[in-house]
Amino acid sequence: MGKLAGKVALITGAASGIGAAAAQLFAEEGARVFLVDIDRDALESTAKEIGPEIADHMTANVSDENQTEQYVSAVVKRFGRIDVGLLNAGIEGKVSPIVDCPTDLFDKVIAVNLRGVWLGLKHVMPAMAKQDGGSIVITSSIAGVRGRPGIAPYVASKHAVIGLMRCAALEGAEQGIRVNTINPSPVETRMMRSLEQGFSPDDPDKFRREYAAAAPLGRYADPREVAKLMLFLASDDASYINGSVHMIDSGRNAR
Ligand SMILES: NC(=O)c1ccc[n+]([C@@H]2O[C@H](COP(=O)([O-])OP(=O)(O)OC[C@H]3O[C@@H](n4cnc5c(N)ncnc54)[C@H](O)[C@@H]3O)[C@@H](O)[C@H]2O)c1
Repeated sequence: MGKLAGKVALITGAASGIGAAAAQLFAEEGARVFLVDIDRDALESTAKEIGPEIADHMTANVSDENQTEQYVSAVVKRFGRIDVGLLNAGIEGKVSPIVDCPTDLFDKVIAVNLRGVWLGLKHVMPAMAKQDGGSIVITSSIAGVRGRPGIAPYVASKHAVIGLMRCAALEGAEQGIRVNTINPSPVETRMMRSLEQGFSPDDPDKFRREYAAAAPLGRYADPREVAKLMLFLASDDASYINGSVHMIDSGRNAR
């Protein structure tokens, strides 16, 4: 039997990268999955690959409260409950020192990465409280526990969701709602291609090779490796794990 047999998982940022890998893995492990993303075409193709009986989807902007209410209602209407909430949608912004960074770029990154998680918690937790609880997994980052020059809005947003996670974990525990973050270092997705270009416009490939080689395990993570940690935290195998930060970083943060 799959680790998520009979469960319903809501996944934001599910159209590509880590979210799409999690959607695929959760479905393989027996969950019905409801996929949310702002990228309609990519979302439709990810949902189609998984199959219409087990995957449904809705195009939504996670930073919009009405759209959040709508996607939460849509999951409950389609599948009857929400056992797993994977709040994963995120953007990187642009590489720029604080002094040169337009404030509207700061606002945009915070709107998706922090407000999006806030709204997800605010509307998913009541649905879980009406049943027998659930597990919420928030995608933070190694940038949630360490600074990095050039991406301050992103770093600030990923630190801030750890604070939200800790409060939600304490507020939800009585209702059987567990909340945790996962904190990856670089993963092979579109987001790293964009950051490599931002950090090293003249030679992004060189940046990539050097950055990967600097990881203790000598490479970036594959999205499926990250999805496996999400799966564990989502499943009942993690039934006593709540309020924690889970690094998946090849040991980068151990230095
Ligand atoms: N790739 C990495 O190295 C890495 C490392 C640490 C953390 N993360 C985090 O993992 C998460 C997934 O990123 P990824 O690497 O798979 O990148 P990605 O760009 O492939 O996926 C992000 C997804 O979020 C969606 N999205 C963006 N804004 C949205 C919005 N307003 N509403 C709904 N959906 C929206 C995008 O369309 C995209 O499908 C992000 O939160 C990211 O910050 C990534």
